[in-house]
Amino acid sequence: MDTRENLMAAFEGECKAHFKYLAFARIAEKEGHREIARLFRAVAEAEAIHAMTHLEVLGEAGNTEQNLLSAIDGETYEFTQMYPAFIEQSEKEANTRATISFRNASEVEKVHNGLYNNALENLGKNKDTEYHVCEICGNTVAGNAPDKCPVCGASIDKFRIIKD
Ligand code: FE2
Ligand code: FE2
Ligand code: FE2
Repeated sequence: MDTRENLMAAFEGECKAHFKYLAFARIAEKEGHREIARLFRAVAEAEAIHAMTHLEVLGEAGNTEQNLLSAIDGETYEFTQMYPAFIEQSEKEANTRATISFRNASEVEKVHNGLYNNALENLGKNKDTEYHVCEICGNTVAGNAPDKCPVCGASIDKFRIIKD
């Protein structure tokens, strides 16, 4: 593999490590290991920095307009092609938990696509919109959190505000 391919492989590996550690932190938290949860989150943060640096060196991140277009492409692919195929396959295998996980993600990618399109239309206007994310399904809401998540039904206390 040449260095470009290695950068891409390293980016993907660091991304996986980042999210694996965040998932491990969530479990450690539930099991009462607060210190270990914090360690997993600290290392997850470091892996994210490695991933972002590799991506920047690759030149895969452009200016904000290009990045919004790239994000719209990615989200559109996920909710129009990738997740529908994955949902169908999981239904064939009667893997209900996978179907729910794919369905929730697919619904939310559609929401992301809308938010990014809206951001693109309003590029340069810097409105002071707040965002809330559902900790259960990832639903992403502009403005106040809803009483009940329209994607997964979680209550308002499951929404986390995104800070600068
Ligand atoms: Fe790393
Ligand atoms: Fe998304
Ligand atoms: Fe949700």
